[in-house]
Amino acid sequence: MNRAVPSERAAVTSDAGGKRSKTSGSVTPCHVAIIMDGNGRWAKSRGMPRVAGHHSGAKAVRRCVEAAIDQGVEWLTLFAFSSENWRRPEGEVMELTSLLKQYLRSEVAELAKQGVCFRVIGDRARFSPELRAEFDRAERETAGNRRLNLTVALSYGGRDEIVKAARAMAHAVQAGTLDAEAVDEQAFGKFLWTAAMPDPDLLIRTSGERRLSNFLLWQCAYAELIFMDVLWPDFDATHLAAALADFARRDRRYGASVG
Ligand code: IPE
Ligand code: IPE
Ligand code: MG
Repeated sequence: MNRAVPSERAAVTSDAGGKRSKTSGSVTPCHVAIIMDGNGRWAKSRGMPRVAGHHSGAKAVRRCVEAAIDQGVEWLTLFAFSSENWRRPEGEVMELTSLLKQYLRSEVAELAKQGVCFRVIGDRARFSPELRAEFDRAERETAGNRRLNLTVALSYGGRDEIVKAARAMAHAVQAGTLDAEAVDEQAFGKFLWTAAMPDPDLLIRTSGERRLSNFLLWQCAYAELIFMDVLWPDFDATHLAAALADFARRDRRYGASVG
C-alpha cells in the first residue's frame, strides 16, 4: 500500500506524500500535477479548429479545479503552455494567450470565492506586460486562500527552470551570499520556481502520450505517473477519481526494499 515518505527531502517537501482519508481509509495525494494534453486532437476529431479544443480545455480546467477540491487534493499544478509551445504557429500562440487573458479575467473572482490560491510558474518575461499584470492580479487577489493551491505552468520548461536556478545560485556564490559547500538538494530547490511548493505525489498526463515533455523534471523524481487515454477537454471528476484510486493502490518505496 501507499506508504509514507522516508527520505528527508520528500518528508520536508511533500507532507508525507498524501493523507489518509478518515472515511475511506485510502490515501489522497497531497499534490497532483497534470499535463493537460489532447485539445488539438479533440477539435480535429470533431472537424473543428484547434482553438475550439483549447476553449473546451479551459472548461475542463474549471471542472478539474472543482473536482480536486471535492476530492481532497491540496495542491493542483496544471501544465498549460510549455517553453516549447512558443514554436507553434503564431496564430495558435495568439489564440492561446488571448484565451488565457480571458480565463484570468472571468475566473479569478470565482477562484477566490472557492478558496483557491492561484500561482503562476514559468518564464513570465516572455508574456506581454498586460498578461503579466493579470498574473500578478490573480495571485494578489487569491493570496492567502487555503482550500486549494492551484498553480498554472505557463511558458514553463523543466530544463529552463533548472538552468535558471543554477545560474541564480552561481550568482549568489559569486556575491558571497551562498557557500558553495552548502549547496544540496534542499538548497537547490529553493532557487526553483516551485520553491514554496511540495513535490508532486501524482503526475497525470491525458491524451495517451507517455512522456513528460519537459514538465517538472526535478520535482517529479518520485511522483507516481498515470497516463490516461482521455483527451483533455473530456476530462472530468470521474477521471480524477479513477487516477486517485489508482494512486491509492501504488506502493511508493523511494528506493527502499520491498517489505
Ligand atoms: C494541449 O493540447 C494544450 C497545449 C499544449 C497548449 P494540444 O494543443 O497539445 O493538443 P494535441 O496534443 O495537439 O492534441
Ligand atoms: C505538453 O504538451 C505541454 C502542455 C500540455 C502544455 P505538448 O503537446 O506540447 O507536448 P508534445 O509536443 O506532444 O511532447
Ligand atoms: Mg499536445
